[in-house]
Amino acid sequence: MPSRPDGIIIAIDGPSGAGKSTIARLLAERLGYIQIDTGAMYRAAALLLSLATVDLEDLAAVEKFCKTLDIRLELDSGRQVVRGNGTDVTDLIRSPEMSLLTSQTSSLRPVREALLKAQQQMGSRGGVVLEGRDIGTVVFPDAEIKFYLSASVAERARRRCEELNSKGETVSFAETVVDVEKRDLQDTARDIAPLRQAEDALLIDSSRLSIDDVLNSMEALCRHKIDNMGVSP
Ligand code: DC
Repeated sequence: MPSRPDGIIIAIDGPSGAGKSTIARLLAERLGYIQIDTGAMYRAAALLLSLATVDLEDLAAVEKFCKTLDIRLELDSGRQVVRGNGTDVTDLIRSPEMSLLTSQTSSLRPVREALLKAQQQMGSRGGVVLEGRDIGTVVFPDAEIKFYLSASVAERARRRCEELNSKGETVSFAETVVDVEKRDLQDTARDIAPLRQAEDALLIDSSRLSIDDVLNSMEALCRHKIDNMGVSP
């Protein structure tokens, strides 16, 4: 197993709305690790591509644009900030439209290649919780611990609805179910780095579990792994 200066690599993959972001943030906090939200990076890339009106059918143009991408995840007074080519895009990347666009742009090879490199660099020292779709399968297949966090479509749609409604956006449950199913299909059916559970990932179905239940069992497993690696968090 690789030894890394800052700790182990924890990979959390799974479909949208399974609770990965919340769990990854809290788990990273508990372990004193850095959270890397790779979905936010794909969202920032999608936003920048659309603002620059890059033709998504023209892969050469997409590739050229991706060479200029500079996406950073920063902590600003405890708040996670996503910066895309210098601009704070944290809130802009969270709309339902951007979710659907991201699902589309994240299937493009130049986008994946650019972000794969960036993510591998960001996580190489260890001491990180990476969440996404292909962390355990492609980005860090040698991650010391891998989770696949899932939940039923209905439960994920219910959570997404609640989240958007709490932000003042009116969305219906039925619409959200369609969105969730569409994104699941796009994420699992794409050719490059599709969403799938790594063979050595631990499956957790969060449909009927509280955040605390999920978090406590994940933390216990991570601590056990960290202790056995002789690396302190
Ligand atoms: O986790 P999220 O919903 O913020 O992710 C947004 C989109 O980015 C999602 O449709 C899938 C894509 N994504 C990906 O393809 N690979 C990742 N490692 C993370 C996200």
